[in-house]
Amino acid sequence: MCGIVGYVGPRQAAPILLAGLEKLEYRGYDSAGLAVIDDGKLQVAKAKGRLQTLIDQTENGRHPAGSIGIGHTRWATHGEPSDTNSHPHLSQSGRFAVVHNGIIENYQALQTWLADKGFHIVSETDSEVIAHLIEYYAERSDDDLIDVLIKTIGRLDGSFALGVLDTKRPDRFLAVRKASPLIVGIGSGENYIASDIPALLPLTRDVYLVDDNEIAEITAAHIQLFNLDQEPIEKDVYHIDWDVSAAEKGGYEHFMMKEMAEQPRVLGETVRSYVHGGQIAFGLAEFSAAELKALRHIHVVACGSAYHAGVYAKYELERLTGIPVNVDIASEFRYRNPLVGPDDLVIVISQSGETADTLEALKESRRKGARVLAILNVIGSSMAREADDIIYTIAGPEIAVATTKAFVCQVTVITMLAHHFAYLLGRLSDREMADCCDELLQLPALAENVLQDMSLYQEMASRLYNQTDMYFIGRSSDFAMSLEASLKLKEISYIHSEACPAGELKHGPISLIEKNTLVVAMSTEARLAEKMKSNIAEVKTRGAHTMVVTTRALQSLFQGVADDIVLLPDARPSQLPVLSVIPMQLFAYYVAVLNGRDVDKPRNLAKSVTVE
Ligand code: AGP
Repeated sequence: MCGIVGYVGPRQAAPILLAGLEKLEYRGYDSAGLAVIDDGKLQVAKAKGRLQTLIDQTENGRHPAGSIGIGHTRWATHGEPSDTNSHPHLSQSGRFAVVHNGIIENYQALQTWLADKGFHIVSETDSEVIAHLIEYYAERSDDDLIDVLIKTIGRLDGSFALGVLDTKRPDRFLAVRKASPLIVGIGSGENYIASDIPALLPLTRDVYLVDDNEIAEITAAHIQLFNLDQEPIEKDVYHIDWDVSAAEKGGYEHFMMKEMAEQPRVLGETVRSYVHGGQIAFGLAEFSAAELKALRHIHVVACGSAYHAGVYAKYELERLTGIPVNVDIASEFRYRNPLVGPDDLVIVISQSGETADTLEALKESRRKGARVLAILNVIGSSMAREADDIIYTIAGPEIAVATTKAFVCQVTVITMLAHHFAYLLGRLSDREMADCCDELLQLPALAENVLQDMSLYQEMASRLYNQTDMYFIGRSSDFAMSLEASLKLKEISYIHSEACPAGELKHGPISLIEKNTLVVAMSTEARLAEKMKSNIAEVKTRGAHTMVVTTRALQSLFQGVADDIVLLPDARPSQLPVLSVIPMQLFAYYVAVLNGRDVDKPRNLAKSVTVE
């Protein structure tokens, strides 16, 4: 997704903007640019490609000169990556510059309207219309830019986080948000904006979290927030307590490897946040037995890996609570006029808390009267401000586009939630609850154990990295983990892969199996192991190369049908989903590295998909 930064203060803006954009590279982009005001004129530098191109073009920010500016990394939605399509976009007279994160859905109608008013559109983007609209309204009134901006955004359908420079006011810039993330940084004699916290960490730890339909007026000495009635808004200062190293690589070659290695620690922090004395309690998500008994359905809604955690949630919640659970992809759920209401609980899962489809599914559910619980990794994110209840994964900042540590923490939170609900419903004894707590407290050590086998996954990847297709199969919770294993592999190695329920092979996918086609079977549930063995034999007789992820206790069952075997420590059912997916993360990582891929920033992908 696009990244926005802004600066106003006594220092040269360009180097500060470039440094901020570097911290936002992980969001995914394909061009970058910046604009500063120098001697009453806008000076702009824009470049297609990696940020380094812009850094070289501006000689690392030595020019353009100016102490107020805005910067942008663009993830193309409308118009190919090019210098012209890069942001900032200028108004026709060159008075205003705008950076935008989001999508303007009615931009074509606005382009036509603007053309009729004599404006010339020079780019293929949706965002450019914003700069011209601002100019249109500014030319026709002596209103302050805040009024002009309110009129402008009143014409926009869609989502936006904007930074706006005005050459007539070189002492201030404006920012506004609707459905795309925006943060205002509070400095000493200087102030900032950014799309996300990592861009501000080197500058300040004190920020304002801007909400939808709020405008920020920012000078070097002052920040004022307004609503759309131009009434001042008072906001609490949010103090970021991340340590800067948490957002740095810490000596690892890739953020993804660093974050995989952090899994034991963050699993421990997540479990210990909610497990106390053999009981589980979620401070920001309290349910009574009566409320649970009154539930008609639980709906779990998410995207990507978070959706895979949702598939796991269906199995775990239904097994333990007896409540019917639907699991949905957010982009499908929100446009289906979902059958949710006051008798339903909707659980949204999101690492970033900003994914547009999941956020809109959350809002739709609340509009329909459902109670919404959000499982999130970013404190203060948009979803955190919209949900009724929140359970945070304590995974810390996750920079690599491919989620790993946040995903395993999501799975663990779901395990805890399902047991907690079952206990409240009287379906779990004190002993069983205490046993579950003990098992989860042991999970970090078991995860550490699995991570010791790096060389095993490197060796397997060295033999299998040039596959053109890979298939992942599993049953029950193992199917949920095979979905995640498949996504990890495809999104960072660019190798086609898909997951399917093992029992579904014979209904179609098995026609794709040829000699040496890699099939990865995840089989950790003893009650289904015999079935899995049959499925593995089916593909093996058709020439597949089989890799089986299983436990030492089940290992002997797969002798003769497994070409490669990944052995997990003998563990409890509450521990096995997390333990089984870590080897698949590592395998995907090494396959991608051997294919020379940009592991942390895979092509076409973004860390937080804040557009639809
Ligand atoms: C996972 O590795 C992918 N980066 C992607 O599928 C991601 O899980 C999805 O975009 C959802 O993101 P969220 O958890 O921040 O909502």
